[in-house]
Parts: sequence; structure tokens; C-alpha cells
Amino acid sequence: DIYFLFSGLIGRSWAMVFAAGGFKVKLYDIAQQQLTSALENIRKQMKELEESGFLKGALSAEQQLALISICTDLKAAVEGATFIQECTPENLELKKKIFGQLDLIVGDNVILSSSTSCLLPSKLFTGLKHVKQCIVSHPVNPPYFVPLVEIVPHPETDPSTTERTHALMKKIGQSPVKLNREIEGFVLNRLQYAVIGEAWRLVGEGVISPTDLDLVMSDGLGMRYAFIGPLETMHLNAEGISNYCERYREGMRLVLNTFGPVPEFSGEIEQKINQAMSEKIPVVPKVLDARRKWRDECLTGLAQLKKQMKSD
Ligand code: NAI
Repeated sequence: DIYFLFSGLIGRSWAMVFAAGGFKVKLYDIAQQQLTSALENIRKQMKELEESGFLKGALSAEQQLALISICTDLKAAVEGATFIQECTPENLELKKKIFGQLDLIVGDNVILSSSTSCLLPSKLFTGLKHVKQCIVSHPVNPPYFVPLVEIVPHPETDPSTTERTHALMKKIGQSPVKLNREIEGFVLNRLQYAVIGEAWRLVGEGVISPTDLDLVMSDGLGMRYAFIGPLETMHLNAEGISNYCERYREGMRLVLNTFGPVPEFSGEIEQKINQAMSEKIPVVPKVLDARRKWRDECLTGLAQLKKQMKSD
């Protein structure tokens, strides 16, 4: 089986996930330079993961690297592919152009999947000859450490495309969820923006400092959310959902009714939050990278723990 991708940040991470699953991967990009540096970067990451014992999959780093090849010719890259994961920049016109090109050269069996974080399938795929084979598979950054994938079909996507994509994601060790229809922000970003919106309002209204706000999540809600979702949280925090609603329905509605309007995400509040975050983590590439590295180590440890605890 051959899969084929584009080689930016997300493309590289996908390539590593597919290779860990034992699949052949072809990386395609417009620039040879981009491909060469992607391969180097993947090699370095895989070696580091292997040394620290966190390499995914049953194969060694060398064996996984041998599965990944590069290609700058779109036609050659697509040849023999059964699943294509597009990872170009988040730009509707560019993505439409790429899918338009792919539409002309692919057969009837390949799945055309987009990594887009927020472009709706109806915007991306409408009018394509192979629309039945098109789907969004939205990963979470970094996909190597965070397994969720949102699978979002176009209204004309064939159910077998959705099923095959879901099965493939499971096979490579990701955690796919299916949306029954498209919606702005899909589900992950809708939940994320609900949290960000209220965080912004609370800090903006001076209720809490930016750093304490973050602690509420990392040392509070987030501890649970790594294992159980908000609905199961309700179920367990009372004698089941119905009992929770009986007890907290009024209170929840009261609080929810005090939520303010959608923030502007600019001006004084932005400055205040920027200042607090920059004091903690200066916006300097070296510092940001070190913090991201630490984050990924935390996520790796958490992934190990989740595996041990067999949360499902
Ligand atoms: P990126 O900018 O790191 O990578 C984009 C890649 O596309 C680069 O390798 C670039 O050379 C290549 N490219 C540019 N124009 C091209 C063209 N005409 N044909 C072929 N390749 C071309 O972007 P990133 O962050 O990897 O994002 C890719 C996609 O993944 C976006 O749709 C984004 O929304 C989605 N995504 C990103 C996440 C993130 O946190 N970075 C999380 C989830 C999804």
C-alpha cells in the first residue's frame, strides 16, 4: 500500500505516523529543498524517539525510514497510491487547485483526504469528479503524539470512503471520530474556541490572571479530560447524567447565561495576555522550541500512561 503526502509540519508528522503503521509513504512537494529537509528532519526525530524508547510501531527507525520516499512530480507521486493525505498551507484557493489537479489524474479507488483545520468539505470538494472519494481527516498538532483525527465527509462523500478512512486511521494507531455532517470549526475547534472565548473574557474582566487561568485547565479540568470527556465527567460526578441534570441544570443555565459576547481578541486584553505569556515564555524561536519539545515529552509520557491505564 502506498500513501502520499505533502511535506510541511503536518505532512512530516503524518508521514511518521503512516510509516510507524508499516505503510509505504511518498512525500510530494513543489520544492526539492523542502523534501530533502523534511527527510532529514524525520530521520532526526525518529532516531531521537528510538533512543528514548518512544518510537511508535513494531519496526525500527531504519525500517520505517526505508518506507518513506520523496517525489516532486505529482503524477508519479499519485501512481499506485490508495490514500492521499493533502497537507498544503491553509488556503482555500491553493487547496482547490491541488484537488482539481488530483481529480484529473487519480483513479476511482483512491481516497483524497485533506488535513484542513477549518475549510469545509463543501468548499473544498464541490464539483470534483471524484467527490465521492473526498474527505477531511483533520489531525491535532502534533499528530504523532495526539492521536485524534476528525473525519468530516462532504454531503456527496460515499459512506465507504468514510468507513475506509476510519479503518485506516485506526490501523495506524490514531483515534478517529466521525462527524455526521460538516460544521464550522468541526468539533475540536468549536470546543477549543468555547474554552478560549471564556478564558479571554475572564482575564479581560480581571477575574483572574492569565497564568492562573491556564492552571485551571492544566491542573484542574485538563487532568480529567485526558481520560474522560465532558459528558462522562457529568455522568460520574453524579449518579448518572439524569441525576447530574436534576442537580445542576439550573446552576449550569444560570452560569451559562452570564457568558459575555464573542471577544475581539485584540487591543488591551491581547496586550495584557501577551505580556503575561511572554514573561513566562519569551517569544524567541529557541525558547519556544524548547517549550514545544518539553510539551511533546509530556504528551509522550501521557500517551504511555493512557496505554497503561487502557482508558477505553
Ligand atoms: P506548512 O506551511 O508547515 O506546510 C505546508 C507545505 O505545503 C510545505 O511543505 C510547502 O512547501 C507545501 N506547499 C506549498 N505550496 C504547495 C503547492 N502548491 N503544492 C504542494 N505543496 C505545497 O503547513 P502545516 O502547518 O503543515 O499545515 C498544513 C495543513 O495542515 C493545513 O491545512 C493546516 O490547516 C492543517 N493542520 C495544521 C495544524 C497545525 O497545528 N500546524 C493542525 C491540524 C491541521
